[in-house]
Amino acid sequence: MAILHVFDSPPPGANADWTMDQNWDDFTQAEHDIWDELVSRKAKMIASYASEAFVAGLGILELSKPGIPDFRELNPKLRAATGWEVVAVPGFIPNDAFFKHLSEKRFPVANFLRGADSLDYSEEPDMFHDLFGHLPMLTNPALADFLVNYGNAGLRAEAMGTTDFLARLYLYTVEFGLVIEHGRLRGYGAGLLSSLSETEHALTSPEVRRIYVDVPRVMRTQYHFDRFQEVYFAIDSFDELLRLTEETDFASVYARLEGLPPLEPGADCPQDIRCEAAC
Ligand SMILES: [Fe+2]
Repeated sequence: MAILHVFDSPPPGANADWTMDQNWDDFTQAEHDIWDELVSRKAKMIASYASEAFVAGLGILELSKPGIPDFRELNPKLRAATGWEVVAVPGFIPNDAFFKHLSEKRFPVANFLRGADSLDYSEEPDMFHDLFGHLPMLTNPALADFLVNYGNAGLRAEAMGTTDFLARLYLYTVEFGLVIEHGRLRGYGAGLLSSLSETEHALTSPEVRRIYVDVPRVMRTQYHFDRFQEVYFAIDSFDELLRLTEETDFASVYARLEGLPPLEPGADCPQDIRCEAAC
């Protein structure tokens, strides 16, 4: 699938804030069938590698039941869990709109589904990635609060021109993050759990560097767009992730990092604390 869902301004059917009606009744049976196939392909991996919090969220939201989730049914469950809701958007949306939605507890979900020819990999994040990948963690109160803080930090970063630093924090946590639960390493990132092979790589490969989250280190580290990451960042708990971001003055981190070259994706830093937990 090519990148098709990028727009300069809200397309017809979308509002000024980029939201649109989900138009759930317009989804075809073929699309519901693709959703069901995608869910069934993930089941074994989720059971083996996903964080308990992720699995709990899947249950709370009933995301594994047949058919594309209808936001009219989904939102009451999500609101009851953490006060968040999902909103449909046409695809990629600008940073300022994305950050504003997060800061106000709305998670934007691309309102299109990959085709039957892209079941294992979608070049652009679609509703399966956004709903099945991200939403379970939004039932976790600490991660949900982290994302509100992230949205507010994003609005400030936009004004300061420092969104590249902040984007790396999102990528290495919300997309590719690892968490230690009961002494075992598990995945909670949506991008990670989208791919069985990357999840196994991240959790089990001896060539991967797994280190504890350090906010300045994360913000300084570039990442790969087109292949598996070489470093993954682990947390002891979602409360710890929330606390780290609450206690860190991002503006002073940006100021410090602006005077330093970025770190390559595979960089090894002497101050890194290796995570020894096994999967
Ligand atoms: Fe994502």
